[in-house]
Amino acid sequence: MNRKRNVIFSFLGTSLDRGMMPDRWERWRPNISLCQQEDFLVDRLVLIRQKQFSKLTEQVHQDLKQVSPETELVDQVVTMRDPWDFQEMYELLHNLLRSYHFDREKENYYAHMTTGTHVVQICLFLMVEARFLPGKLIQTGPPRGRKAQKHPGQGVSEIIDLDLSKYDRLQTRFVEEQVEARDFLRSGIATKNAAFNALIEELEVVALRSSAPIFLTGPTGAGKSHLARRVYELRQSRTDLEGDFVEINCATLRGDTAMSTLFGHKKGAFTGASSDRPGVLRQAHNGLLFLDEIGELGLDEQAMLLRALEEGTFLPVGSDTPVKSCFQLIAGTNRDLRTEVVTGNFREDLFARLNIWTFELPGLGKRREDIEPNLDYELKRFTEKESRAITFNKEARESFLTFAKDPATPWRGNFRDLNAAVTRMGTLAPRGRIRVEQVEQEKRRLEMLWQRPREESGSEILSDLFSENALTDIDPFDLPQLSYVIEVCRKSKNLSEAGRSLFSASRKKKTNPNDSDRVRKYLAKFGLKFDDL
Ligand SMILES: Nc1ncnc2c1ncn2[C@@H]1O[C@H](COP(=O)(O)OP(=O)(O)OP(=O)(O)O)[C@@H](O)[C@H]1O
Ligand SMILES: [Mg+2]
Repeated sequence: MNRKRNVIFSFLGTSLDRGMMPDRWERWRPNISLCQQEDFLVDRLVLIRQKQFSKLTEQVHQDLKQVSPETELVDQVVTMRDPWDFQEMYELLHNLLRSYHFDREKENYYAHMTTGTHVVQICLFLMVEARFLPGKLIQTGPPRGRKAQKHPGQGVSEIIDLDLSKYDRLQTRFVEEQVEARDFLRSGIATKNAAFNALIEELEVVALRSSAPIFLTGPTGAGKSHLARRVYELRQSRTDLEGDFVEINCATLRGDTAMSTLFGHKKGAFTGASSDRPGVLRQAHNGLLFLDEIGELGLDEQAMLLRALEEGTFLPVGSDTPVKSCFQLIAGTNRDLRTEVVTGNFREDLFARLNIWTFELPGLGKRREDIEPNLDYELKRFTEKESRAITFNKEARESFLTFAKDPATPWRGNFRDLNAAVTRMGTLAPRGRIRVEQVEQEKRRLEMLWQRPREESGSEILSDLFSENALTDIDPFDLPQLSYVIEVCRKSKNLSEAGRSLFSASRKKKTNPNDSDRVRKYLAKFGLKFDDL
């Protein structure tokens, strides 16, 4: 097989390569010594220089021919005003390399880092890193030790490959760091569930490499908020995240204040706005914003958030000067936003923007193999929080674990329920020892907690609201519809949300713009008001 040819891009060293007198051979000259290495043949040297250095170049070429007659010399004349100007040097190198015909099958490429200004050296590094120069860095230096006395002109050289995976020691360190990061995201709990562990592995990569939104879904208490904070802490320790962790539950945002809580307001924007308010988006600048229960966000707020994500700017209430904020977004939801998109309650474009890195957290019921390590974690947390050690006696632990791992145990509130159970048992345990009695008591408590509230039937809904007489006045035709409308209103935060659900089909056709008004009028026909429901 033919040997690949070595091609080097190098700047002429206008002071280091200098020398006309015979004693120049006694001095280390980077480009000359580069071509003098015994174990490394330079097949082509592209020597980059300014026009005014013709004489020096001629001399260097002559000397190079003497030390390495096989080397093909390319005299690359360039125009540069200021070799300390970053932009100019970057452009110059970029243009030069872009027009160069690289033949990687036959040639190996190197950027010689020793000559040129520091700016030139940095730009060469960047070219290699960005693969505009598809090769490695090469660095030369003066001879050391005995060689310096025997051959003072012959230096040493070292090749630096920016593909770090080639360095064993660094590679081991990467693996260690990765293990550490994953362990951190798992809160140090030795989880065994394959699906959850796979999720953590991917999340670790995304959290450290991407600034795109992260979307955490999963049932209540599955650990979305907990994980969002961990992602922040991990990023903070490993990257340049300087800002704060700002968290808001969108279900707490109501009416007019929703906009101003999120996007801020200007002093005097409305009655009560006595000073400027930054809003959470602004507070999260250079940090991480966790929008929990994002499905609860109103449509206007969704539109504004989308703009903030796409353009990086938004308008505070009462201001027409856009504000900039740059933040990592994590959104959480325990609702199926796809359905909300279909019913028109959630913007499709915002959903698409959030749905880039979606992680669905399994509930505790789907991770029964993780119950035991989580139980120990909760015991440890309780001990730390209360400064009081808590343990199970053997029988009690077995009894609790059998119950907890039983597929019939629903764990509806997931980790939140487990946490509460341990807190209660720990508090009631005599002298820090949980016994079978506390476990039995706790099982009963949990079972009560998980009994689903009885669904009310349609006729029960109506008989609560209307007297028997009044009910006889309503046509049987209207009864099921009315009870359905009431049920939806009760599940909705406000009239407009009820309207959106009830008229989701006609809403899409935009035949009737005011859904809330339709609901209000419908209820009024039966003497009802939304607030009374
Ligand atoms: N992976 C985990 N391991 C152990 N405990 C956890 C884990 N995740 C969450 N927890 C604990 O469980 C409780 C509930 O978690 P969290 O508040 O993060 O749930 P959530 O998914 O955000 O719920 P919601 O949908 O109701 O907001 C917290 O006490 C938290 O510390
Ligand atoms: Mg939460």
